[in-house]
Amino acid sequence: MKKNSAKAPGKLILMGEHSVVYGHPCIVTAVDRYIAAIISEDDKYIVDAPDVSNTDYVDKMTSFFCKKNNIEKKFKVTTKADFSDMNGLGSSSAVSVATCKALNDYFETGMSKREIFDMSYHVVKSVQGSGSGADVAAGTYGGTIYYEKLGKNIEPVDINGMSIVIGNTGVKAKTKEYVAKVAKAREENTEKIDDIFQRISALVLEAKRNIADLNYKSLGEKMTLNHKLLCELNICTPELDRLVEVALKAGAFGAKLSGAGGGDNMFALVSSENRSAVEDAITNAGGTVINAQINVS
Ligand code: PMV
Repeated sequence: MKKNSAKAPGKLILMGEHSVVYGHPCIVTAVDRYIAAIISEDDKYIVDAPDVSNTDYVDKMTSFFCKKNNIEKKFKVTTKADFSDMNGLGSSSAVSVATCKALNDYFETGMSKREIFDMSYHVVKSVQGSGSGADVAAGTYGGTIYYEKLGKNIEPVDINGMSIVIGNTGVKAKTKEYVAKVAKAREENTEKIDDIFQRISALVLEAKRNIADLNYKSLGEKMTLNHKLLCELNICTPELDRLVEVALKAGAFGAKLSGAGGGDNMFALVSSENRSAVEDAITNAGGTVINAQINVS
């Protein structure tokens, strides 16, 4: 029986969330939480995705792919996830990219990475109604990426040696709601919100230079400043703030929330000396440390 499988990683936004939706750059890294999609022969279309709560991504991807390539939609899609959509690490983009890659392999359509990115971004946007595509870029290309909306710029960033601790708040963030909240704030006070975006954008550029120079002290400061600017957008929660605060007190170079805000994750930039103190501080403050590798392929 013919069968092909492919996998895609989840993501963590390191800097520049929200402003990336408005055309500013962000830095996003792939994390070692994967979703695999398996395409196998069948005489009808079946989806077996027990650990994916929303199969719209798989359905839209298969429909779009088949229409584009003039293929009859008769095969089975099975997904296997080693992370849930509860932890904010980008399972929707990962399942879309994995399905696209597996279809490309199964039907030998010879898509380039860029074409896989474009198709997956189209599908994710059609399900979610919005989105910068940064998560899709991480899922498609892996590693760490300097990214601009619509994939205008997708540039690999070398972060070898950079070490972070990820803390989960236990509260599920509602990305769509928070993106809408920021859009509403911008409608009401465009000048103020655009100024915050501009300042975040400048921090992202400086952070990119700090990463190249291995200047973690300065990079950490940029991350913490990015967190403060995100709080000015009213997307911080007491839980996120608390985990950031205890991580900094425990000696982290910097700390910030990651993603839409309202919950999910924060992370702290650490050294091998202070890693375990930061992990303990996050745990003692009620967070859960997610032991994930970043910058994976
Ligand atoms: O909540 P997350 O982890 O899916 O991240 C959302 C990031 C935003 O910049 C707020 C939205 C986007 O599409 O980039």
